[in-house]
Amino acid sequence: MSAMLTLALSKGRILDDTLPLLAQAGIRLFDDPARSRKLIFPTSDPALRIVIVRATDVPTYVENGGADLGVAGKDVLMEHGPCGVYEPLDLRIARCKLMVAGRIDEQARQGRLRIATKFVRITRDWYAERGEQVEIIKLYGSMELAPLLGMADRIVDVVDTGKTLKENGLEPKELIAVISSRLIINKAALRWQHARIQPLLERLTAAVAARGE
Ligand code: ATP
Ligand code: PRP
Repeated sequence: MSAMLTLALSKGRILDDTLPLLAQAGIRLFDDPARSRKLIFPTSDPALRIVIVRATDVPTYVENGGADLGVAGKDVLMEHGPCGVYEPLDLRIARCKLMVAGRIDEQARQGRLRIATKFVRITRDWYAERGEQVEIIKLYGSMELAPLLGMADRIVDVVDTGKTLKENGLEPKELIAVISSRLIINKAALRWQHARIQPLLERLTAAVAARGE
């Protein structure tokens, strides 16, 4: 059994919402990753360290064994596509909805819809299942702008309060999926590090249940 487990988190919501769950599970950090440029953080559990990666890279780190465990949004997991990781626990954090949205004053359009999104795979699959031919425009952020500038007819993005859509004259049109963040585990690690991972999984499961939301 190797010296310790590595848990991959991303800065922002995932880190902010996962740290209280870890604390509830009795695991604390000595430094604040949000204020540090370091990428590796020991924890109060000598057998667990945290690494900070981009949100979209979490499945890649876990799939390839760079990290044994990770926390990733279901949207990120769906977009990453099938990968050899276990997804044993819904952490019920960073909850939102993946939606198709468009202008409130949308005009009917002839021909193919143009959809701006960073979720290219999810969008392609969603419209393919409906037998609709669409043109997908890949963006990395500020998707809401695309329909306002006439660059796209609709967007696919996550929506929480709906404030971002509303403030930009957009509205939700279709629900693709309800999203929350999941604990993911490398399959080989689960086999070989079972004695370390199982108690951690149990403590996190209890922490999620204790929050009761
Ligand atoms: P990056 O900034 O690296 O491109 P990101 O923007 O997806 O990544 P975050 O904004 O931290 O990273 O979001 C992490 C996860 O939180 C998302 O994958 C999604 O599941 C969820 N999420 C995103 N936006 C919201 C929101 N407004 N409210 C609640 N959850 C959200
Ligand atoms: C996300 C998402 C939307 C917004 C939705 O952006 O891309 O723009 O949240 O939330 P709302 O429905 O509560 O307004 P985020 O806040 O992560 O900013 P980002 O553009 O930096 O990803």
